[in-house]
Amino acid sequence: MDLRLTQARATDAERRAVDRVVDPALDAVASLNGNNGIKRADGVSGLRDEHFSDAGHAARGRRHLLLPALHAVQEDIGWISPGALNYVSLRLSVPPAEAYGVATFYAMFSTEPRAPRVVHVCDDVVCGQRGGEQLTERLSSEIGPELGTEGSGDEVCWVRSPCLGLCERAPAVLVQSTGEPDYSIAPASAEQALAAAAGGGPGADAADAAFTDTSVSVPQTPGGTGLRLLRRVGVADPGSLDDYRAHGGYTALRRAVGIGPTRVITEVSDSSLTGRGGAAFPTGLKWDGVAKAPERPHYLVCNADESEPGTFKDRVLLESDPFGLVEAMTIAGYATGCERGYLYIRGEYPLATRRLNHAIGQARQRGFLGADVMGEGFSFDLELRRGAGAYICGEETALLNSIEGFRGEPRNKPPFPSVSGLFGKPTVINNVETLYNVLEVLAAGGPAFAQIGGGRSTGPKLFCLSGAVARPGVYEVSFGATLREVLALAGGTVGEVRAILLGGAAGGFVLPDQLDVPLTLEGTREIGASLGSGVIFVIDTSADMTEILRRIAAFFRDESCGQCVPCRVGTVRQEESLARMLRRTEIGSREQELALLDDLARVMRDASICGLGQTAPAAIQSAIGLGLLSEGVAQ
Ligand SMILES: Cc1cc2nc3c(=O)[nH]c(=O)nc-3n(C[C@H](O)[C@H](O)[C@H](O)COP(=O)(O)O)c2cc1C
Ligand code: SF4
Ligand code: FES
Repeated sequence: MDLRLTQARATDAERRAVDRVVDPALDAVASLNGNNGIKRADGVSGLRDEHFSDAGHAARGRRHLLLPALHAVQEDIGWISPGALNYVSLRLSVPPAEAYGVATFYAMFSTEPRAPRVVHVCDDVVCGQRGGEQLTERLSSEIGPELGTEGSGDEVCWVRSPCLGLCERAPAVLVQSTGEPDYSIAPASAEQALAAAAGGGPGADAADAAFTDTSVSVPQTPGGTGLRLLRRVGVADPGSLDDYRAHGGYTALRRAVGIGPTRVITEVSDSSLTGRGGAAFPTGLKWDGVAKAPERPHYLVCNADESEPGTFKDRVLLESDPFGLVEAMTIAGYATGCERGYLYIRGEYPLATRRLNHAIGQARQRGFLGADVMGEGFSFDLELRRGAGAYICGEETALLNSIEGFRGEPRNKPPFPSVSGLFGKPTVINNVETLYNVLEVLAAGGPAFAQIGGGRSTGPKLFCLSGAVARPGVYEVSFGATLREVLALAGGTVGEVRAILLGGAAGGFVLPDQLDVPLTLEGTREIGASLGSGVIFVIDTSADMTEILRRIAAFFRDESCGQCVPCRVGTVRQEESLARMLRRTEIGSREQELALLDDLARVMRDASICGLGQTAPAAIQSAIGLGLLSEGVAQ
């Protein structure tokens, strides 16, 4: 490929960061191919220079390393310079304009020099109401305006962030430091956030230790009877494979291997398990399609991007029971004929990433991953890929593009991933919670699992409770429990409830007189709501509904990939209208603004390419339908 590079040269440190990612991957391929690797252009220093070039099909086949290589530069250097981009482009044979397009797609990457530490402060729907705004005010007054605005600090800085997936511990911050691992603090005080920005933060080890008490995130009794998905949380050591096995780990995989791949898929189909990532597609049907696809290889992808505001259930599972996901993915790979799985985790989950990396390493070392899993004669291995701050990468085809090293823009469907997915091959994509359910399907048997709940809503279900409830956290119930029952588990609501956001930013509201709705796909649809990603965000009368909706609209405006006009423009216009209502500077009357929002919603729903644009107006439409935005309703 003829790459047109600028004159900018990478520094030694930048090249080292890129080589750290690219060379081990090449060495792995070389050892598989039985040769001793690739020639070095500069045998002495061990660094490649800009004269190095290996082109053609093999080089283009490395494009999937683009995101990890950019991560490495961002982490080591603190920003991605033009020289570093040139070097990445050369090493991976990616046109520099495309590498730039990818680097600028993600919020966690910077293509401008910036302060060595950035404190990301969540000001999204939950944190905004529970201390996040006060944090931003303190940071703003003590260290200056936020990153990206005039006057922001070169040495010490902060930036607003969408939901960090720590809503039960609001307010949350994420600390990104050059040359050091990222870490989260939640709940975060202003003093902690200021100290972290100044370089006096706790560091990753101490910050991780603050998450040891899992009862903060899972208030239900650890190991309590009735808990299935959460049964090991707070009970088994997330760092020990032996402890995992002592608590029932790997019995499901043994059973799977005992009955064979076809029967595993029959069990999953019999269980009527539906996907927990939002679309509720039957898992058995998806698996069967890929298992039977003649084209090879098949790929498995776990969607751990969890970026829907108010959602944190997957994070809690990943942090507290990482081996469970490794086992569940191995079963999925075995059943559907995949030898390789990718675990795509959002970039803002540093603790879960560390625990999963450790679990994958342990499982590989002990023969639970690799060429001959458990000595059972089948091969399966896993690779973890970190996102870098883009909600749209949770959409399954955008996620595939992100892994492949392209901008995380959704593809047109069909073809669906089960036909043409990762690298154009048949691909199973499942949500984290869906995969944990597979362990239960194998433990109980498909038909018994189907007896829990009913219809399309079978099995255990996790909900993320936040906002005005006594004990926020992840709660597990059997499908069919009512909203009132789930709220009671969390100690009930606090203050006077105005509305409850169900399903997330792409969901809808229910009113205090609708608490007896059964939390099933069918029950929520009947009242015009949806379960979405399992969000139950309780809003009391002290909150300003217009501000909450404006924040939701701002989220979609920021996160739209911009590929199609109805979403790119519609999300901007939607936010502008809500901002005018908030300032009481409506164009015409409030009714006219509501009519405009209605118009926009119709166009976005009907003409957007993907679910983001189609659901971006959902919560706003729901609020309008319930009269929550009408003139005269106390805001
Ligand atoms: C904008 C958007 C964001 C999404 N984010 C996620 C996500 O973070 N996690 C997830 O599992 N599914 C997400 N989905 C749904 C996925 O596209 C896909 O349906 C899901 O991963 C399939 O897994 P499942 O069948 O196990 O639910 C998202 C969809 C859209 C449209
Ligand atoms: S609907 Fe929005 S997010 Fe989806 S492809 Fe179009 S612009 Fe991108
Ligand atoms: S972590 Fe702040 S809203 Fe979710």
